[in-house]
Amino acid sequence: MTDSEKDQEPTQQVEAARKAFEQEFERFACFTGPSANLTDLNLEQAIAEQRLLAELRTRHLGKKSALAASKKLIGRVLPERRASFGQLVQSIEGELTQVLDETERNIKNYIEAERTTLESIDVTLPGRRPRRGHRHPITLVRERLEDIFVALGYAIEDDREIETDFYNFDALNIPENHPARGSQDTFYTREGLALRSQTSTVQIHAMQRRGVPVRMIAPGRVFRRDTPDPTHNPMFFQVEGLCVDRGITMAHLKGTVAEFLRRMFGAETKTRFRPSYFPFTEPSAEFDFSCFKCKGAGCRICKNSGWIELGGSGMVHPNVLRAVGVDPSEFSGFAFGFGIDRMCALMYELDDIRLLFENDIRFLEQFE
Ligand code: DAH
Repeated sequence: MTDSEKDQEPTQQVEAARKAFEQEFERFACFTGPSANLTDLNLEQAIAEQRLLAELRTRHLGKKSALAASKKLIGRVLPERRASFGQLVQSIEGELTQVLDETERNIKNYIEAERTTLESIDVTLPGRRPRRGHRHPITLVRERLEDIFVALGYAIEDDREIETDFYNFDALNIPENHPARGSQDTFYTREGLALRSQTSTVQIHAMQRRGVPVRMIAPGRVFRRDTPDPTHNPMFFQVEGLCVDRGITMAHLKGTVAEFLRRMFGAETKTRFRPSYFPFTEPSAEFDFSCFKCKGAGCRICKNSGWIELGGSGMVHPNVLRAVGVDPSEFSGFAFGFGIDRMCALMYELDDIRLLFENDIRFLEQFE
């Protein structure tokens, strides 16, 4: 190799180092200059690019870089050309540093901006309210009638839904083989146990627990083996009422039921009693009230009769009092019972009682 050829070698190496840098830098070119665009990157990708760029800098400007190695070759350059060789190396170094600095700055700014948007909270945004539930229409009706009876001096009893035959039938004067058992066919669990078919069972529990005199109502679930249709459901709600004291007569029954219905449906509400039969009352009566919608003129709700049938009632049968050890010659009482869901369906003009049990939020949301 001639001296002048030797002299050229360091310059060529420096140029080669720059070329190699330019090639590798190409993938970062879009992050710098006037048309720099980083918006395609997400935060994680931008951080990855930042690391790759730092590695690129070490590779091309670091102590072990080709550029650093070529600097050491200055001894081979002819003395009169050393100054210009030095300038060349410096200018290339400066060029690389500048383009790397700018790209690095762009990526860093972009990362910071992305972080700020990601982590920022708009304190002026309205908060997300938790969805609030509300009471079921049956609960609304139950609470209203509870309030009325509590105001009349009645206690509220909440009792079991699984019963023995004794409470569901025998103690209520419905002996085995009595036809009333068939009409209230329910769901049997184990021998001698069944889901209660009426809330009348609570009359017995209440008298056993509280003794007499007693005034109580017992709202709750009851069960019957009915096929569901617009007016039947195998599970429904009743409320039972019981008042036992000395000297209680049919007049007290009529006055209590009439007052309850006036408070529930308005002061002008009329009540009527029709003779009926229930095993646990004697005499027995069913009661109707004047239609709250048409005030007795006749409409769809009362099927044009002006009256709505509501429930059963009567004077507590002496056998029921005896079953709980109460002397019928000293105490007398009245009892009544009616369907809460039926009352609810009437009040809200529902034409299918099953709507109350399907738990369709779109339906239930309309109440309260
Ligand atoms: N338990 C009766 C039924 O489910 C309703 C009833 C009628 C309750 C008369 C009473 C009553 O307390 O005296 O059909």
